[in-house]
Amino acid sequence: MLRRILLGLIVAAAGAGIFWWLTIPAVVAPASLAAYTPNVANGLAVFNAGGCSSCHAVPSQPDRLKLGGGLAMPSPFGTFTVPNISPDLTEGIGRWSEADFVTALLKGTSPDGRHYFPAFPYASYQQASVADARDLFAYLKTLAPVAGKTPDHDLPFPFNIRRNVGIWKWLFMDGKPFTADASRSPSWNRGAYLVNGLGHCAECHSPRNVLGGIVATQRFAGGPNPEGEGWVPNITQKRLGDWSAKDIEYFLESGQTPDGDTAGGSMARVIRNTSQLSPGDRAAMAEYLKSLPPVEGPPRSSKAKQKEG
Ligand code: HEC
Ligand code: HEC
Repeated sequence: MLRRILLGLIVAAAGAGIFWWLTIPAVVAPASLAAYTPNVANGLAVFNAGGCSSCHAVPSQPDRLKLGGGLAMPSPFGTFTVPNISPDLTEGIGRWSEADFVTALLKGTSPDGRHYFPAFPYASYQQASVADARDLFAYLKTLAPVAGKTPDHDLPFPFNIRRNVGIWKWLFMDGKPFTADASRSPSWNRGAYLVNGLGHCAECHSPRNVLGGIVATQRFAGGPNPEGEGWVPNITQKRLGDWSAKDIEYFLESGQTPDGDTAGGSMARVIRNTSQLSPGDRAAMAEYLKSLPPVEGPPRSSKAKQKEG
């Protein structure tokens, strides 16, 4: 009996040790950031490619640069409230160091060493370059501070335990920056970088498993809207086969589809950002999307079908 209890305790302790070890939040060490003069103009381009204002702008007002947060984001795990990332000294990120910011964006770890929830799409942003992250931080510092604290997230147990996010990261984040494919053109690589990293297009355009991780084999093949009703379309060649690269480019600029529809729902917010990108960046994204092989998405439920009409 005693031996069994002892054995049980050892297994439990080993399990706790492994859990502890697997869930240690990763950081970018300040010393790894060599002296650098940030490029604020590129920071603005990174801000637009990353769509930060889609979530962080104060809702129900027109100013995209008022980053006081407050948007409620429903999800299968509870409701997140997007925080204030304006340079406000108390409620925003005005006191953050550059390493704090680079760590948040590329590792999903807070300045006090806790995991952020992946509702902040850092599993995509991790692919961004450190230079882009530093330029973005410099740009954000030029914006006006917005006062006001946002409410806490409303998440039931166990989803409210940040340490558990370490397991999610271990399963769904490889911690690797984007690596260029030398067999492809520079513009294809630029497009792949923007679509997979900063643009975080796969975050909405892919089905997710029960743990909320993207189903890798069906990346970009569409799925149920993670924020609730409706369906996010497939953007592989399965559905976009009839679209030319120019059609995709024009859609990212204007929100107009080749058959005269206008992007609605959450895509309208995305277009507000992609419309600000350089024509070259939009063309690169289109080139990359045209190269995605056709992938069948998950079957739609009849309810979602009805909604889409
Ligand atoms: C899809 C919505 C969404 C987008 C897009 C988004 N964020 Fe966030 N962000 C969040 C949520 C939700 C949190 C809160 C995460 C948490 O509390 O764990 C967050 C947290 C943060 C934090 C931490 C703030 C704090 O007070 O600790 C920073 C910094 C941040 N985001 C910066 C950015 C930047 C920069 C971009 C654009 C590159 C961006 N976010 C894009 C949803 C988003
Ligand atoms: C916040 C979620 C979200 C993100 C992020 C997102 N999309 Fe979308 N996208 C949607 C939704 C929802 C629709 C459907 C819009 C509609 O029904 O009008 C859509 C539609 C589209 C369409 C039109 C497809 C069709 O068949 O009509 C394309 C192309 C597209 N998105 C490309 C992208 C690209 C490229 C990115 C990354 C820059 C991206 N999306 C990021 C939600 C998103």
